[in-house]
Formats: sequence, structure tokens, C-alpha cells
Amino acid sequence: MSTAFRPSQDYAIRAATPLDLDALMRLEEACFNSDRISRRSMRQMLARAHARTLVCEWQGRLLGYVLLLFRRGWEGARIYSIATAAEARRTGVAEALVRAAEAEARQRQCRFIRLEIRKDNPGSIGLFGKLGYQPRGEYPAYYEDGQDALRFHKELVSPDQD
Ligand SMILES: CC(C)(COP(=O)(O)OP(=O)(O)OC[C@H]1O[C@@H](n2cnc3c(N)ncnc32)[C@H](O)[C@@H]1OP(=O)(O)O)[C@@H](O)C(=O)NCCC(=O)NCCS
Repeated sequence: MSTAFRPSQDYAIRAATPLDLDALMRLEEACFNSDRISRRSMRQMLARAHARTLVCEWQGRLLGYVLLLFRRGWEGARIYSIATAAEARRTGVAEALVRAAEAEARQRQCRFIRLEIRKDNPGSIGLFGKLGYQPRGEYPAYYEDGQDALRFHKELVSPDQD
């Protein structure tokens, strides 16, 4: 991106398409050191009816994404991954993506959202804490490098009650 992103500049949140695969993989590689989603899995996620990837786009560039999973017969949704490009952090991109993911989950009649966060990820813990996600225990040694996961949960009420 030649121009620096500034929070005052409008960006759009939209559903990802297979054409976003390269840009999503660039984000994935830049934002995660381990437990990355492989290109193959990302491609499958973009095609699956029970997965929804939303992207934040500005001037043709992806600033972030959130990947949401649904399951037949389950009234919940799971945030599988979320990331914001380093140069766009702390400008509200992830917050906008999570709110859009919640709207999507509500549309699909989900009653709650769950996710796991690395114990050593204060940024993500801060983000989901701010948005009303409650801690629900831990999964020991959940990640590739042996790090524990914290489990978070949010009941989806109407947006006015958020
Ligand atoms: C975690 C991450 C997605 C946050 O994205 P972001 O777009 O910078 O977040 P936002 O600007 O929307 O921040 C919203 C709120 O989250 C919290 N937050 C975000 N980054 C934070 C940080 N580094 N430390 C503490 N709180 C943070 C703050 O409460 C913030 O609100 P504020 O800026 O008004 O204080 C981003 O840092 C990232 O991509 N990290 C690498 C990948 C990753 O860890 N993904 C999460 C996997 S579960």
C-alpha cells in the first residue's frame, strides 16, 4: 500500500470471495507466527457453506479479516480467526469485523459466539473483553507450541442491548 491507512478514511466490510485468497494468505503469514491457516484450508473455507469470511477493504487492499464457522444443529458460531494488518492496528478494524461477524451470526439465528485466544495474546484478549466476551475456562496446551488457550463466549442479544 503506497498510502498509509488513516482511521478517518472509510473502509468497507464485505464477504470474502475466492479472488481474495492471495491477499488473505499474505495477511495470515504476516499476522501469525504459528497455527497459520494453510492455503488449502483457506480456499476450502471460502467455498464452504458453513464458513463465512468477512474482510475489511480500503482502496482495494485488505486491512483485516474474520473467519466465522457455523455447524448444523448447533445454535452457536465460532470465530476461528481474526487479524488486522500491522499498519492498520488500533484503528477499529477488528472491532468493526467482530461486530459484522456478530450481525452475520444473528442472521443465521445463532444464540452465541465462542472462540479461543492464546493466553499470551493481550491484544486479542483486550479486543474481545471490550466487546463483551466472557472467559469460559481454558484448553491446556491447545496450540502447536504448547501454549494454553483461553475460551471466550458471548450471548448474542439484539444489537441495541450490546
Ligand atoms: C488482535 C488484533 C486482531 C486487534 O486488531 P485491531 O484492528 O488492532 O483492533 P481494534 O483497533 O479494533 O481494537 C479494538 C479494541 O481492542 C483492544 N485492543 C486491540 N489491540 C490491543 C492491544 N494490542 N492491547 C490491548 N488491547 C488491544 C482495545 O480495547 C481496542 O480498543 P481501543 O483502541 O479503543 O483501546 C490485531 O492486533 C492482530 O491482528 N493481531 C495478530 C493476530 C491475532 O493475534 N489475532 C487474534 C487471534 S485470536
